[in-house]
Amino acid sequence: MDLAPSACKSKTLSIGVPRRLAPLLERHRYKGAYGGRGGGKSHFFAEMLLARCYGGPTRAACIREVQNNLKESVRQLLVDKIQRMGLGWFFDVLGTEIRGRNGSIIIFKGMQSYNAENIKSLEGFDIAWVEEAQTLSAHSLKLLRPTLRAEGSELWFSWNPRHDTDAVDRFFRGGRQVTGGIAVEINWDGNPWFPDVLRQEKDDDYASDPETAEHVWGTNAIKAQKNG
Ligand SMILES: Nc1ncnc2c1ncn2[C@@H]1O[C@H](COP(=O)(O)OP(=O)(O)OP(=O)(O)O)[C@@H](O)[C@H]1O
Ligand SMILES: [Mg+2]
Repeated sequence: MDLAPSACKSKTLSIGVPRRLAPLLERHRYKGAYGGRGGGKSHFFAEMLLARCYGGPTRAACIREVQNNLKESVRQLLVDKIQRMGLGWFFDVLGTEIRGRNGSIIIFKGMQSYNAENIKSLEGFDIAWVEEAQTLSAHSLKLLRPTLRAEGSELWFSWNPRHDTDAVDRFFRGGRQVTGGIAVEINWDGNPWFPDVLRQEKDDDYASDPETAEHVWGTNAIKAQKNG
């Protein structure tokens, strides 16, 4: 398995991390993981989030641009991970939030529910993880950044790149290096747990339409735009 040599340890937790995502284990204010489908981005951030909440009291918001109901959030992924990581005794899974015995809390929100006033409820949060960040609007990104202001707070982004004009791509890869920011690319071939069911999907996609498949599974639209 292509795992980073020093898997992240939080107390007795031991977590395997794909080698390409290892730079995201360091402290950075802005962390990004981008790439095609099935790279392991969501699983990585889910495990990191639970490890942080377990390791010390942490307030975390799982954000997406639009969230009409909890099913659209990463809640179920976190619930499954809690079981797999043997942390059922530590986390209480409630309706709209997950609480840790040490006071940690994880909430799930769509940016559409926030405006300049009520987003202040996130000011004391330590982590905001934005999933499917390719759909995050420039407005939402602008609201979110100065809101997270706790000492050492971090903003995490996972996404499948579409256009180099998307706010998250501009932010991380738009020319000027973001202070305190790091973004790492990972695709299916960097995921040590890439499952057979997705491998079959990928192979079928490449067999029927290689160009479209490359947009879905490969390093996709942005490279194509830059070369074209
Ligand atoms: N840490 C992990 N432990 C166990 N399985 C994993 C892990 N990371 C990834 N996988 C496996 O790889 C699959 C793809 O991972 P994941 O869903 O995190 O990819 P992704 O990059 O978020 O994909 P997408 O861009 O489609 O959202 C998962 O469904 C799971 O089967
Ligand atoms: Mg994902």
